[in-house]
Amino acid sequence: MSYKFDTVKVRGGYNSRQHNYSVGIPVYATAAFDFDGFDHFNSLRAGERLGFLYSRVGNPTVAALEARVAQLDGGSAAVAFASGMAAVSNTLLAVSGGNGRILSTKQIYGGTFDLENDVFPSIGVNFDFIDHDSSIEEWQATIKEDTKAIFVESISNPSARLLDIEALAEIAHKHQIPLIVDNTFATPYLFRPLEHGADIVIYSATKALNGHGNAIGGVVVEGKPFDWTEEKYPQLFKKYWVARDLDNNPRSFIEAFPQLPFAAFLRTKYLAYFGAALSPYDAQLILIGIETLSERVSKQVRNARKIVEYLDSRSDAVSWISYPEHKDSPYKALADKYFPDGAGTVFTFGFKGNDEQINKLIDSIRLFGFQANVGDARSLLINSPKTTHGELNPEELEAAKIRPETIRLSIGLEDADDLIADLEQAFAQALEI
Ligand SMILES: Cc1ncc(COP(=O)(O)O)c(C=O)c1O
Repeated sequence: MSYKFDTVKVRGGYNSRQHNYSVGIPVYATAAFDFDGFDHFNSLRAGERLGFLYSRVGNPTVAALEARVAQLDGGSAAVAFASGMAAVSNTLLAVSGGNGRILSTKQIYGGTFDLENDVFPSIGVNFDFIDHDSSIEEWQATIKEDTKAIFVESISNPSARLLDIEALAEIAHKHQIPLIVDNTFATPYLFRPLEHGADIVIYSATKALNGHGNAIGGVVVEGKPFDWTEEKYPQLFKKYWVARDLDNNPRSFIEAFPQLPFAAFLRTKYLAYFGAALSPYDAQLILIGIETLSERVSKQVRNARKIVEYLDSRSDAVSWISYPEHKDSPYKALADKYFPDGAGTVFTFGFKGNDEQINKLIDSIRLFGFQANVGDARSLLINSPKTTHGELNPEELEAAKIRPETIRLSIGLEDADDLIADLEQAFAQALEI
């Protein structure tokens, strides 16, 4: 039976009958699982029977999270990781197979950019960075012979820039490469990239999926199987002993797991060996968070809209606002098309103050937190160029279009009037007006 989003978010991926009728999803605090004899072990190992061997590779609490997120996104399978960065880095490594190139943009999370720009080239995988606002023809022209994937954020960090995901998916598929979308800021409540042609979706579950700032985690969702080619992705076609069948015949991941080859490969070769496994304790916290995803995000969107309206009225303190629904936003048409329920709860504005006054603004806030997280139930504010994007040098910040006066807001569940009052008093103190 296929249930609607709000039913899946509280029920998906878990059947109490399989867990001693426990209503709350239990934390399976165990490293390993007993095998009920050799045949049991062998059928688990060969993937012939569902079950668990060792918590670095799979755990029932973590599996409930994986199944729930996969269902929310309309995917065929998901793999959880210990952080959003582990989800991003392992996915990009697995798709590259350790060589070739990936097409991305500089207007993304600073940690991801530094990973792509500095770390990946040191291990033989290169990135081509295109300006986020390039035309689709320019994106297409940047795809090279050995490009293995396009990687983008559906709502970019920090400035909430949008992309035409359907057009990007079309050119990716024309070149027989997958489109990978980091959907952290949107969450599957506001946007489901697989429904618009993307092939793989990544989350930092630390953010709005969890929503309470009390766990670090990441999830990768595979959509309906992409049409992988052996020439470009030999890693999925190679026969591995580790994927052998019950009769010990080595198999490829395409052969052994035709409905979810990428997720199975990612789990077996990357999650298992690089070892960034999500703790079941954190998985439980994220699962509890997801139960209120729609209620939280819809109110946070309403609050964000009120705050944008307030900022709009403060031309004495605010030089620009980068929120996709804003009347001046170049992304307004994309917001209308792809984000009917709201274009997120995180956005930036330009503060009309010098460096010292920006510091004063940050020091003056009382209700907003000053912290490097987003999607939390509590609102927070940060000056991105020095913090969340502090990995970028001044030239890189300019290329990423993150101006020095940028303030990023993540809007929470408080009363919007109190948030506005906090901004008001902080503006007054910082600008002495
Ligand atoms: C869009 C995006 N992707 C990935 C990450 C990394 O997630 P985590 O902090 O869970 O490793 C972040 C963190 O800020 C992010 O904003």
